Amino acid sequence: MTKKIAVIGGDGIGPEVVAEGVKVLEALADVRGWGLELLHYDLCADRFLKDGTTFPNEVADTIANECDAVLLGALGDPRVPDMRHARDILFGLRFGLDLYVNLRPIQCLHESLMPLKKFKASDVDITVLRENTEGIYVGIGGHFKKGTPDEIAVQEDFNSRKGVERIIREAFELARRTGKTKVAMADKHNAMMHGHELWIRCFREVAEEYPEIETRHVFVDAMCLFLVQDPTQFEVVVTCNLFGDIITDLGAALQGGMGMAASGNIHPGKVSLFEPVHGSAPPLTGKDVANPLATVLTVGMLLTHLGFEGEEAKLTALVRRAIETGHCTREVGGDLGTRATGDWIVEQIRSGA
Ligand code: IPM
Ligand code: MN
Repeated sequence: MTKKIAVIGGDGIGPEVVAEGVKVLEALADVRGWGLELLHYDLCADRFLKDGTTFPNEVADTIANECDAVLLGALGDPRVPDMRHARDILFGLRFGLDLYVNLRPIQCLHESLMPLKKFKASDVDITVLRENTEGIYVGIGGHFKKGTPDEIAVQEDFNSRKGVERIIREAFELARRTGKTKVAMADKHNAMMHGHELWIRCFREVAEEYPEIETRHVFVDAMCLFLVQDPTQFEVVVTCNLFGDIITDLGAALQGGMGMAASGNIHPGKVSLFEPVHGSAPPLTGKDVANPLATVLTVGMLLTHLGFEGEEAKLTALVRRAIETGHCTREVGGDLGTRATGDWIVEQIRSGA
């Protein structure tokens, strides 16, 4: 059966890393004999500045009705300071496809990437589930007396029982599925006594259904401290949209930097979106220096979502070997460019890895 994947390079280094991800996907399809159809969409800041297009309804419909997954590079461009196009495309996909699980593995794949003195690479192995359809990201709010000395800006934080419960439940289900024994929930119910009271109450209720799992509540500020002090204490972490955004950048620092952080925006069983966490990195654009390994790991997550068992582990092993043997970009210890790193991964796949 042919898998149909929408590909959106986006802005900055997005198209460069996605090109490597696509090479990897095509090589795998070729070697394994999978049918693969890629739909490339030119949706980015350049396009928006040229003709005002952000995220056309036809594209949204094609993705929702015909595609199995989306591979996205990055969105964000200094020429569009209000991020208009980025919000339409990224949030259009996250909210439009109801991709409520933002799955962000924090794994340190090699000792050379480990920034903490007393720990080994294998001590960093955490799966973060970031709620991805609610919270402060719903974009509801407004200004009062804008531009005056009395101005007020309101940004609402949405937490629905349904939204909170389904992400917490997925964290427990993932723990059960993957043999993990600990789930921690990070919130801030000491300050956000309405929205996050719902989180803690719901967490305690759902936890009762998983008696074999050890549960822990941690205020998010403390979690930032604990993650750096001793990352071994966490296995699965579930949190709200904004805190998940922040925690996973901190997490990226524990895995070798943003160039190593992969993510999936997932609705279990439905078309989902896969993107490296790093963003568009405008200063690196066009120089062949961006690290494509987060995208390779992201392709692994995409393949797991499509049901290709074992492929993610193989790609992860290849990325580890790329780091070990220096077949990677400078900031992770190698001396290759973006394209040559992708070429090396493809060579390994073609020679049987
Ligand atoms: C991320 C990014 C986005 C987010 C930005 C680009 C809106 O930082 O995917 O982590 O905050 O979700
Ligand atoms: Mn982020």
